[in-house]
Amino acid sequence: MNANIKKLAMEFTKDMIGWRRHIHAHPELSGKEKDTQKLIINVLRTLGIEYKENVYGYAVIGTIYGGHDGPNIALRADMDALPIVETTGLPFASEQTGVMHACGHDSHIAILLGVASILQSVRDELYGTVTLVFQPAEEEALVAGAKGIMESGVLDTVDEIFGLHVWPQIPVGKIGLKTGHFMAASDRFNVDIVGKATHGAEPHNGIDAIVAAANWITSVESIIVRETNPMDQVVCTIGIFQAGERYNVGAGLAHLEGTCRTYDPNKRDYMEARLTESLKALDTMFGTNSTIEYKRGHGATINTPSSVEYAASVVADYLGEDAVQMMEYPSMAAEDFSAYLQHIPGTFIWLGTGFEGNPPLHNSGFTIDESILTSGATMMAAIVWERLSSVTTKK
Ligand code: NI
Repeated sequence: MNANIKKLAMEFTKDMIGWRRHIHAHPELSGKEKDTQKLIINVLRTLGIEYKENVYGYAVIGTIYGGHDGPNIALRADMDALPIVETTGLPFASEQTGVMHACGHDSHIAILLGVASILQSVRDELYGTVTLVFQPAEEEALVAGAKGIMESGVLDTVDEIFGLHVWPQIPVGKIGLKTGHFMAASDRFNVDIVGKATHGAEPHNGIDAIVAAANWITSVESIIVRETNPMDQVVCTIGIFQAGERYNVGAGLAHLEGTCRTYDPNKRDYMEARLTESLKALDTMFGTNSTIEYKRGHGATINTPSSVEYAASVVADYLGEDAVQMMEYPSMAAEDFSAYLQHIPGTFIWLGTGFEGNPPLHNSGFTIDESILTSGATMMAAIVWERLSSVTTKK
């Protein structure tokens, strides 16, 4: 263990808190991270770190060149906020009504800037290169954040990649790790079921879209529960069901929106096919006319076993054995970090920020315990340091 890494993380904590609070007060939605980009660039410039901007959208890629040759390790932070009205009451709460860093990406940026500060101070001792990936548009699954960066080719020479996410389901001081399945693939669907509006007293003269839609919802539930293996990790949720105009009129249209989460690509195809088929069957049964628009979002995040083992050993060394929490189950939430792991070995890591009363991610009251900025930066800087502090062969 290099005690200097821990010491530097302490020294840069004040800066990290400052960056985090500034970014928190000035959140920007997916694809609109212009001022966030400006802050990142200013810090990198002050540190003397080379960078490329607008790689894809507002992405910034910083590069720290070690004093010696060696592998290229990438670290990623996502930059975007969510369309949520903040209710934390914090003195540095969002100044942009209706936009909030409710997923902790403000902390991710602050931590990566802290790591950049630490590693830039010890760069002469590094055998290799550090690639700092500041990525826009993680939240909006249908805008390519990680995918856009991958396709730009800037990470073609990267040997291993690590990223973290603040995680309120595990306590402050713990680091969540897991080999293999970690976060699910996420798709989205929009469905319109068109019937024929009629007087509520004369159902036989119309086609009731509400009754048809209610049947379809039950079919979807049955497909998941009766057609897929309970061990297969499949979930679908219909989050929007809109229909009807008036209490005594049979509805002519029902609109539904939902999401399917899977790990196995075959199950992903299966769910898309079965949702489509079940709507056709519904139309036969009810005489409705249904359409579905099924959009593929993030793929599944699958961690590389050797990178997970390595990260666990670094966490144990720098943050203590107790900090390592090997997760029993993966999450059905999704992450576009998956796009990096499809091509580069590495792992995604959960940084515990659970404390009493802290609501879940994407909640208007979500916040972090700022002590995790120090532990997060220590961990990420140590992950790079331990890989690049002596001559290793390129992976
Ligand atoms: Ni997030």
